[in-house]
Amino acid sequence: MNVLITGGAGFIGSHLCDYLITDHNVTALDNLSLGRKSNIEHLFHKENFKFIEADMNNSSMMDEVFAIGKFDRIYHLAANSDIAQSHAKPSIDFKNTFLTTYNLLECMKNHNVKEIIFASSSAIYGETQGPIDEDYGPLKPISHYGAAKLSSEGFITSFVKNYEMQAWILRFPNVVGERTTHGVIFDFINKLRKDNTALEVLGDGEQYKPYLYVKDLVKAIILVSETTSEPVNIYNVGVNSRTKVRDIAKFVIRAMQLNSKIEYTGNTIGWVGDVPQFSYNLSKINKLGWKAQVTSDEAVQKSINYILQNKL
Ligand SMILES: NC(=O)c1ccc[n+]([C@@H]2O[C@H](COP(=O)([O-])OP(=O)(O)OC[C@H]3O[C@@H](n4cnc5c(N)ncnc54)[C@H](O)[C@@H]3O)[C@@H](O)[C@H]2O)c1
Repeated sequence: MNVLITGGAGFIGSHLCDYLITDHNVTALDNLSLGRKSNIEHLFHKENFKFIEADMNNSSMMDEVFAIGKFDRIYHLAANSDIAQSHAKPSIDFKNTFLTTYNLLECMKNHNVKEIIFASSSAIYGETQGPIDEDYGPLKPISHYGAAKLSSEGFITSFVKNYEMQAWILRFPNVVGERTTHGVIFDFINKLRKDNTALEVLGDGEQYKPYLYVKDLVKAIILVSETTSEPVNIYNVGVNSRTKVRDIAKFVIRAMQLNSKIEYTGNTIGWVGDVPQFSYNLSKINKLGWKAQVTSDEAVQKSINYILQNKL
């Protein structure tokens, strides 16, 4: 198959490139706004790998990419992944999280490409109580990022119905591991590199969420897309355990061999749009035979070690 991975130079996209390169012709497309060439450089010598630096909001460029690529399937991961940033500038999510999806769907329609795998997010659910399954509603995202993901899901399902496409929508939780580019672990390490006497933690540290290891996620994406065949296939992907932000702070301080004080800013949320607590009901994906192998705490620690060892 000829596959296109949008956001292919990003954290998760680059792991998907590594996996799919074994038996597909892979094109990775990225504007490098958040991704890094170094994530995929090790694939450049392969005949069945191609990297295109392009912005998905450049329609004529995308049209050319599709005309040449003759894609059978699209893995759509390009998005703004910095949720906190779009509080100040919502247009970031409108353009990079929503419009990238819409432009992609137009291209797929125009070039008769039928299959899309979409990286959605737990952020579409908003503030919730208890383990949530895929049918939870009404959906009331509280971040612009969550709103852009939910709107993207809506257009994907309408394109599926109108143009006989097929979609796999996977709602990721927080994902961590090697090549991570952003998020709470990154922020803590960077703060401590600047001042290791004290670590400021946004919120009260009680934020409690599942952190999924990236290689477990890639296996879930492949399994769901290969074993389900509804016109629209929607799955929560996650890990049953969770990690508190106050524990992440302790893990980071210990891994950096410091004695820093932890200072909490005190609210229940880290920033406007932050969902402080959530957990998934994973029975739908578990029934397919998938379960995360790495616990949330282990995944966080792998991520910390990777950032420190690679001096990112
Ligand atoms: N990492 C997580 O915790 C997490 C959680 C839920 C959902 N997701 C979703 O998974 C996908 C991958 O996330 P990630 O963590 O690898 O983030 P990432 O930032 O590393 O990857 C996203 C990539 O998209 C690229 N991109 C952004 N706008 C673009 C545009 N207009 N044109 C072309 N490329 C563009 C960026 O340069 C980046 O390389 C995203 O859709 C994200 O929303 C991630």
